Amino acid sequence: MTIYYTQNVDFYKGNSTEQLLKEFGSPLYIYSEEIFRKRCREMVGLVDYPHYKVTYSIKTNSNLTLLKIAREEGLHADAMSPGEIFVLEKAGFKPHEIFYISNNVSEEEMKYAIDKGIDTSVDSLSQLDMYGRLNPGGKVAIRINPGVGAGHHAKVITAGDKTKFGINTECIGKVKEILKKYGLTLKGINQHIGSLFMDGSKYVESAKNTLNVAKQFDDLEFVDFGGGFGIPYRKQEGQPRLEIAEFGKNFGEMLREWAKEYKKDILFRSEPGRYISAESCILLGTVHAVKENHGTFFVGTDLGFNVLSRPIMYDSHHEIEQYRDGKIITAGETVTANVVGNICESGDIMAKDRVLFIPKEKDLIAVMDAGAYGYSMASNYNNRLRPAEVLINTDGSVQLIRRRDTLEDLIRNFPDLA
Ligand code: LLP
Repeated sequence: MTIYYTQNVDFYKGNSTEQLLKEFGSPLYIYSEEIFRKRCREMVGLVDYPHYKVTYSIKTNSNLTLLKIAREEGLHADAMSPGEIFVLEKAGFKPHEIFYISNNVSEEEMKYAIDKGIDTSVDSLSQLDMYGRLNPGGKVAIRINPGVGAGHHAKVITAGDKTKFGINTECIGKVKEILKKYGLTLKGINQHIGSLFMDGSKYVESAKNTLNVAKQFDDLEFVDFGGGFGIPYRKQEGQPRLEIAEFGKNFGEMLREWAKEYKKDILFRSEPGRYISAESCILLGTVHAVKENHGTFFVGTDLGFNVLSRPIMYDSHHEIEQYRDGKIITAGETVTANVVGNICESGDIMAKDRVLFIPKEKDLIAVMDAGAYGYSMASNYNNRLRPAEVLINTDGSVQLIRRRDTLEDLIRNFPDLA
């Protein structure tokens, strides 16, 4: 039997999908406060080692209201750019609650974080040297490549032998030379092996490698193991969740043992992004056309890859629910179809070869698990307007948390129109 996620978790809390689109426009990103908070809490409670901090990886979703909720739940955050630092500060995060994980940044960008007193990690010897020039005598972190990667697609595996990220473990001697040259202290070591694993074995293996490197430094304040915790994108088929309780127990024991040997209450961190935000969001759109072309059935919607690019970027699977006249469709005659958007490319396919209840114009299409790398990777391609975002609060009330783009937004940066 198919499991319908929104029914299962009472996602809309009595709100009408039709009404939401009428009020905020289609397509629309709809978030659940309840689910977002639940995922934050699961991560905060992952290990029972007392010096453990979750830094939310905001590249996943940096909506200001969601960031404030994450902070309320006790999360810190990692940032990948001055823009992310800027937004985090607007959401109330203090410099000590932000970890800047830089990659190939300019001197200006690195200085932006240093001047604010934000912990900064560099991921090459040349950037470590740059850090030393900019902040001699300072404290710095390095991102190492622990040699083991994981992820749902080659494009998101960020450790191992095919990636631009991290300092290889053989270079530790050179790291020490640069630290000495500038009187730097190595404050932290971090890693991120990639995005989306459903069993924790690679994470643990890579963490062991990183801890072996960490042992070679005396003054560390933290070791950060990165994100990558997966979510089940195939819930309708009953895909199991990542066993985080079991994982957390074993991982916590390993960390406790290591800290005992290191003889210091060192801080351990992880950087989940997707796990926190993905399942808290449904992307809702409208069917505007249905047609059959040379034997393929197309459902033409306003859900182009400008709105959610994961399917065309990584062949990602997002489940679909269909609604008609304010109700979810769970029975009827079916057809195998491609759900496509309104962008001028044949690759503009949101969901391929799906068995759907025969769709009609004005039906609504809901795309599951859209909260991670959804809006944050949306664009104005074809001069389309990025959607609004709304939050369904725990009490069922609905709050606009980002307005929809306007046509004026499309010309905002043209000096000759100022
Ligand atoms: N830490 C660092 C340094 C990262 O680069 C990332 C993600 C994370 C943490 C969070 O990883 P997560 O827990 O979300 O897996 N756009 C792709 C994923 C790109 C991941 C980039 N880095 C997607 O839609 O699948």
